[in-house]
Amino acid sequence: MSDKLIEVQEDTGVVRLTLNRPKALNALNTALLAELDSVLNDLAQRDDLRAVLITGAGEKSFVAGADIAEMRDKTPEDARRFAMQALTTFKRLERLPVPVVALVNGFCLGGGCELALACDWAVASDNALFGQPEVGLGVIPGFGGTQRLPRRVGPAMALDLVTTGRKIDAQEALRVGLVNRVVPQAELEAVAEELTKQLAANGPQAVRSAKQAVHDGMDQDLESALALETSLFALSFAGSEQKEGMGAFVEKRKPNF
Ligand code: CAA
Repeated sequence: MSDKLIEVQEDTGVVRLTLNRPKALNALNTALLAELDSVLNDLAQRDDLRAVLITGAGEKSFVAGADIAEMRDKTPEDARRFAMQALTTFKRLERLPVPVVALVNGFCLGGGCELALACDWAVASDNALFGQPEVGLGVIPGFGGTQRLPRRVGPAMALDLVTTGRKIDAQEALRVGLVNRVVPQAELEAVAEELTKQLAANGPQAVRSAKQAVHDGMDQDLESALALETSLFALSFAGSEQKEGMGAFVEKRKPNF
């Protein structure tokens, strides 16, 4: 692995980002966040992008949180700036027009858990450990955890995690809906390949519209959200993808998107 803080690999329009500070368990510092932001800015411009997978370098950690050594001497104003930097980058990730999947390969704590929450969904290895331990450091989550966590797992579970700071294992994370799947660590690589194939096999515009419908709809009342779905559904009949997808089904062949 190179000395870049974000490694970028690509296969058939599916981009895999690896956060690369393994000696610090991939803790998020200003430099790493800036590099991630720049990579995401470039990806957001690409029409040929199909999906993004995000993981941590090494076998031990996805991300062990924001960098505590860097934060230690921050003033309130510095802390605000640091949080705003992360929030802007996480929003950029969340708003990519394609699915973003976290491959959680170990510690997923503090800012790491908040990063996973900014992804559309997550697959965890069986050794993953999740938590928002900030209160033990005398602070609260600052990269969106108090807001995205309750939206993902409900307010009671979120309050449990952010007030006790306790860590939960992958099975509990699965049970509470923090992750979608748990696999043995040795199989995470195979899952990444399988996901790449699955995500690249679907109609790319349909996948983008499906993400848009869920994300934009969640911010609206049900009636408006259903109207949004109807519009996007109707629009999907305007392009070549629907003709190819439905044509392939009727002709008993695989679609070629
Ligand atoms: N920031 C900076 N460095 C970190 C780090 C972090 N969040 N987490 C781990 N590291 C560093 C350690 O300092 C250590 O560095 P050295 O080898 O130079 O001493 C190296 O990574 C390996 O860590 P450990 O020796 O501690 O490894 P371990 O296996 O014994 O423990 C761990 C692993 C339980 C994850 C432990 O490292 C730990 O508790 N880390 C901090 C977790 C945490 O509190 N995260 C929340 C941070 S605050 C936050 O994220 C705020 C926010 O919302 C924005």
